[in-house]
Amino acid sequence: MTNTSPGAFSSTAKHQVAVSAMFERIAPRYDTANRILSFGVDVFWRRRLVRGVAAAFLPGSRRRILDLAAGTYDVSIALADRIPGAFVLAVDSCLPMLQAGKGKLIRAGGYAKSRIAPIAGDALHLPMNDASVDAVTVSFGLRNMFPRKAALAEAHRVLTPGGVFHILEFGAAKCRICGGLYTVYLTRILPYIGWLVTGDKEAYSYLARTVRDFPAAAVLTEELRAVGFQEVTARRLWGGIAYLHTGKK
Ligand SMILES: C[S@@+](CC[C@H](N)C(=O)[O-])C[C@H]1O[C@@H](n2cnc3c(N)ncnc32)[C@H](O)[C@@H]1O
Repeated sequence: MTNTSPGAFSSTAKHQVAVSAMFERIAPRYDTANRILSFGVDVFWRRRLVRGVAAAFLPGSRRRILDLAAGTYDVSIALADRIPGAFVLAVDSCLPMLQAGKGKLIRAGGYAKSRIAPIAGDALHLPMNDASVDAVTVSFGLRNMFPRKAALAEAHRVLTPGGVFHILEFGAAKCRICGGLYTVYLTRILPYIGWLVTGDKEAYSYLARTVRDFPAAAVLTEELRAVGFQEVTARRLWGGIAYLHTGKK
């Protein structure tokens, strides 16, 4: 039998098609699954990301923000709501994910909605000019991008000099006891609950695999430096279950 799950392909295009097909399948139940699987903690992690973006802007500066892998707009809406003067380009390669978030966009109200532009596009080939955005965010999206270095380089290309790339991503919880419990949760419990909520066990086994395979913070720090980012930082959240990485152009 042919393995058509994301990550099974060496070609970028085939990987992308498989990733988008997977997110298309889970899109209608994506938000519900997120809240249940993270016990609601993902909401606080995203808030930390948004606070970091707001803090990195100088008073009075232009605030054109690119939210990569925007999904159902959790981060895009928070950016538009909480950062005065922000305009958010919400890019995702899976149109059904953007469509699944449409109701949230409407409920967010006219102010936030008028400050978010949804764009179907690939983070590896952004339809944007060099140095055209003032900040880039990606929350739980980077580990789906292959090759990762191309995505980092593309984020660097579109940022204005001085702009900051903010990455929120799962980590590999290194402490002994919580690391062990986390691994059991990730590999045994999470795919099962994911299957109950979305009907798609493969998608949540894939999530567990990509979290396990995602590089350690020190490695990602080096990758960010290698494509030109400076002042690179990595902040542990919840004992390393998630990380906030930043790099300045
Ligand atoms: C786990 S979801 C994260 C969504 C959202 N950022 C959040 O915090 O809930 C990952 C998203 O990445 C998108 N994605 C994967 N590869 C992508 C790529 N190369 N370019 C743009 N989006 C991509 C998927 O379609 C999916 O919506």
